[in-house]
Amino acid sequence: MPVITNIEDLKRIYRRRAPKMFYDYAESGSWTEQTFRENTSDFEQIRLRQRVAVDMSGRSTATQMIGQDVAMPVALAPVGLCGMQHADGEILAARAAEKFGVPFTLSTMSICSIEDVAENTSAPFWFQIYTLNDDEFNRNIINRAKAAGCSALVITVDLQVLGQRHKDLKNGLSAPPKPTLANWLDLSTKWAWGLGMLQTKRREFGNIVGHVEGVSDPSSLSSWTAEKFDPSLDWDKVRKLMDMWGGKVILKGILDVEDAVRAAEVGADAIVVSNHGGRQLDGAMSSIRMLRPIIDAVGDRIEVHLDSGIRSGQDVLKAVAMGAKGTMIGRAFVYGLGAMGEAGVTRALEVIHRELDVSMALCGRRHVGDLDRDVLLIPEDFE
Ligand code: FNR
Repeated sequence: MPVITNIEDLKRIYRRRAPKMFYDYAESGSWTEQTFRENTSDFEQIRLRQRVAVDMSGRSTATQMIGQDVAMPVALAPVGLCGMQHADGEILAARAAEKFGVPFTLSTMSICSIEDVAENTSAPFWFQIYTLNDDEFNRNIINRAKAAGCSALVITVDLQVLGQRHKDLKNGLSAPPKPTLANWLDLSTKWAWGLGMLQTKRREFGNIVGHVEGVSDPSSLSSWTAEKFDPSLDWDKVRKLMDMWGGKVILKGILDVEDAVRAAEVGADAIVVSNHGGRQLDGAMSSIRMLRPIIDAVGDRIEVHLDSGIRSGQDVLKAVAMGAKGTMIGRAFVYGLGAMGEAGVTRALEVIHRELDVSMALCGRRHVGDLDRDVLLIPEDFE
């Protein structure tokens, strides 16, 4: 077993193990990837204040997100096609999250279905919805999530249309995902991945069976999305989805103060300040830059979480100290999943937890609730 000390180590192993088309699917942003890059580089611009001679015994990273106890302020973000990164990927990631005591979010675009994950885990998970051009499908999937005991509905509001990722088009990423001829060559060297896939029950989207067929260009995930997703999702429709669900709701993909105010007005329990990991509007601001103005505008009315760019416990600390009640990690856990399955996701969580715990101590803070902007040195040109 290689020594893994940080998330970058997991990424290196993942890159060696996973077929290129699936590695590229995770490790890419839209168009020039400016926003994707700045999501991480902007975190680096914020520095931490080292404090000393403060009693650091009895520390804890435990806190709550939307009223749920969590071992640290981190949830696994919804990530499509996890079941292609590792056989039964969604089940393995959900199990790792459950054992660690953090929420797992299942994507509409998962390979394992809501029912597959519910049967193989015991902690309630969050379900993320993409609305399709089909009211019956939307109603039905909400009912399936309720029946599975999901404890929150995450409505993704930043993907009515898909930001173009050049690599996916060039690799011929299809719906459902199938390796193209060119990718078979690459696959022949990825035997461990191939063996795993032979054992997995599902190789297509478990939640949207029956909605994959009949698109004009089945060889492209992006044209499938263009034909099947609902481009008319607006605040009225968001409110209707919230009513249909009737439980805790998190609106994911808010990057603007005015939209954050609307989210608070519709009565969501939380928002995730997010640019979809730099996969949607290239040229948009990084999430960490938009966090402070959004918290200042709505932080007293709605719980604010952040994702996009988190690769370490220090990044979690910076977001929480800025005022976020929680964070989500996407790629950081996908690297672990693709590298080593459940053990890799656990390792990613352990790495982030340890970095958060030690960094809190070195900033002179014993509890997550003690983190405030006083521990941050924020550049003047930051929002
Ligand atoms: C995503 N994301 C995403 N979001 C969502 O609401 N539904 C989805 O199905 C997916 N699918 C998906 C696939 C992959 C491969 C990635 C990398 C991301 C976005 C995700 O939930 C989250 O917002 C970002 O991953 C956060 O950025 P980081 O942590 O990856 O930098």
